Amino acid sequence: MPIRLAVLLSGSGTTLQNIIDRIGCGEVDATVAGVISSRAGVFGLERARKCDIPTLEVVRKKFATREGFNTALWEAIRGFSPDLVVLAGFMSLIDVPSDFQNRIINVHPALIPAFCGHGMYGHHVHEAVINYGAKVSGATVHFVDNEYDHGPIILQGTVPVLDGDTADTLAERVQALERELYPQAIQLFAEGRLQVAGRRVLVH
Ligand code: GAR
Repeated sequence: MPIRLAVLLSGSGTTLQNIIDRIGCGEVDATVAGVISSRAGVFGLERARKCDIPTLEVVRKKFATREGFNTALWEAIRGFSPDLVVLAGFMSLIDVPSDFQNRIINVHPALIPAFCGHGMYGHHVHEAVINYGAKVSGATVHFVDNEYDHGPIILQGTVPVLDGDTADTLAERVQALERELYPQAIQLFAEGRLQVAGRRVLVH
């Protein structure tokens, strides 16, 4: 039985598209049960609709508090009965209820614990890496806990930072890596091969 995914996004949905494509070619044994966006009218929703995937908007700006937003968000997520919640460019902090501990994953476009945390997303990350003078960057897939970019790390990979890099050229290299690592992590989860031991994720 394919596992059920709820994919949460806030933007263009290239990460969602990659997951849909990898499911389509049989690399990932899952089905996208639903897509939820925290911003209205983003292209990620359009991509889902094109594939007949149910969509919902739970717009962060419409809620005065994080608590109110999270209550609505979890009602939407639970409506899709997911085995795994996949963050795909989701730009809001999500509360993790106890029954979803180690059942929410995120991909961050750098090597956690460097260049991560609040405000570190998209091109901000790559600019920070280049400005710092780091020689490598990469991508990190991790379980989500109640802090930004903090939970146990499932997979990490590296890419070089080249002398002539701009945030855009580095982003391209990192995103190519993300497109490999994220489906791999989902498949490992689907096969029941991930065991969390404190901060360490053992892959069996
Ligand atoms: C991805 O590069 C992902 O690593 C990053 O946002 C992009 C989403 O692109 N996520 C973060 O920075 C999380 N801290 P998309 O909206 O086109 O899927």
